[in-house]
Amino acid sequence: ETYEEPYRPQLHFTPESQWMNDPNGMVYYEGEYHLFYQYHPYSRQWGPMHWGHAVSEDMFAWKHLPIALAPDELGMIFSGSVVVDWEDSSGFFDGEDGLVAVYTSAKGDFQQQSIAYSVDRGRTWTKYEGNPVIPNPGKIDFRDPKVFYHDDSARWVMVLAAGQEVMFYTSEDLKTWEFASVFGAEYGAHGGVWECPDLLAFYVPGEENSKWVLQVDIGDGAAAGGSGGQYFLGNFDGKVFTADTAPEDVQWIDYGKDYYATQSFSDIPEMDGRRIWLAWMSNWQYANEVPTEPWRSAMSLPREVNVIKKENGRFQLTQLPAAEMEAYTGDIFIEKSVEIMQTTKQIICEQPSTPFKLEVSIPLDKKQPATFELFDNADAPGCEVKVNAEAGTISFDRAKMKMSSFHKDFPAVTTAPFDKSREMLKLLFVVDRSSVEIFINDGEQTMCNLILPENQSNYYISGKGSSEIHLKGEVMHSVWK
Ligand code: FRU
Repeated sequence: ETYEEPYRPQLHFTPESQWMNDPNGMVYYEGEYHLFYQYHPYSRQWGPMHWGHAVSEDMFAWKHLPIALAPDELGMIFSGSVVVDWEDSSGFFDGEDGLVAVYTSAKGDFQQQSIAYSVDRGRTWTKYEGNPVIPNPGKIDFRDPKVFYHDDSARWVMVLAAGQEVMFYTSEDLKTWEFASVFGAEYGAHGGVWECPDLLAFYVPGEENSKWVLQVDIGDGAAAGGSGGQYFLGNFDGKVFTADTAPEDVQWIDYGKDYYATQSFSDIPEMDGRRIWLAWMSNWQYANEVPTEPWRSAMSLPREVNVIKKENGRFQLTQLPAAEMEAYTGDIFIEKSVEIMQTTKQIICEQPSTPFKLEVSIPLDKKQPATFELFDNADAPGCEVKVNAEAGTISFDRAKMKMSSFHKDFPAVTTAPFDKSREMLKLLFVVDRSSVEIFINDGEQTMCNLILPENQSNYYISGKGSSEIHLKGEVMHSVWK
């Protein structure tokens, strides 16, 4: 399959057809990365949720597999995770290892946690006869279990979303779970219900202790409006998460409109040591109406995530495309420095088609705003990228594109801050037909937005401002060929 429909991403994962939302069950096992996902096989709108399934050797070229989990008498199959049960703690695997899925069984607002296991590398699943493993404790929103093995306490740990908090549970066998603690009522952003949490430890160069990152999605009121993700840095002792930051501090995962329900891969080999996650590239404000067919929604690029310590002593995340993307990089279509003029719109280059990757560096010394545009039609407005060196902000405007009008919340301008104490602003764009992911200053901030260009086969880049900017653009190959 080459998947050539208009808007069909060529680097990003999409289901062959029908509706998709959150990534689920991301795990690496026996040479394969697994991606399960919230899936409605009979419509391009959200409905009775199944787990769709795909596998890949490099997180870019995916092979679609049959549906893994379908609704049953406990309800729909909502979001959750998969772990490798290496020591057969569950007893499902006859002393060998195997995969255990932990997910939410949802009958409308009545949500409980269930498990299923697979002895054949995720191809077929058996639901545990003792489900639910965590019955509903009287909460309306109680879902999205993410499980990992905590070595120091020799227990499985589950983090799940409950209302506008997260709850932690622990277990020795993945079947019996004990409540450990709750976090969040006084912390972070609360513009909507909390969903899809993840908790992972990072080694930070020069630091004695690892840093824990608690990733929590928020259904409304995120950085760019609507749904998005925030994170907390802190410590986790096996039962309790303690934030390092002040309760009112909010750190956003991504500043675009389309980056939700982030989940990390479980069981990436220790010798690899990377933390890699990806997200659903849409926003609940308009997800059900984005004009693509026969599928709806894509996943973001897999991103390698790290924690760094800035000069001011603050810790923060960085996110960059996973190195496996390099294998899909093709010819250079532009590599030069250009002086962009204050007022006129200069066409810097014409690029034959997406996907492509574009690196731009902009000196920050002149404190002059620079604007450039990525557009698909020489006569029609495209999406505009504005850099304000003085304020230390970069904004992305897709509002003027004609197709943006399909929904009132789609024509947005999104803004991200950047570190203006640097000499250069470094931007990496990955443009893939219907999305633009921007990685700012080696991934210190990111901004992911869907776009709906009218013309799929031309791309121009123009600029105005007063800086000499450096550009390097490379064509990307499709993962489907
Ligand atoms: C997040 C979410 C989850 C839920 C799933 C249902 O996008 O609302 O909380 O498990 O989608 O499809």
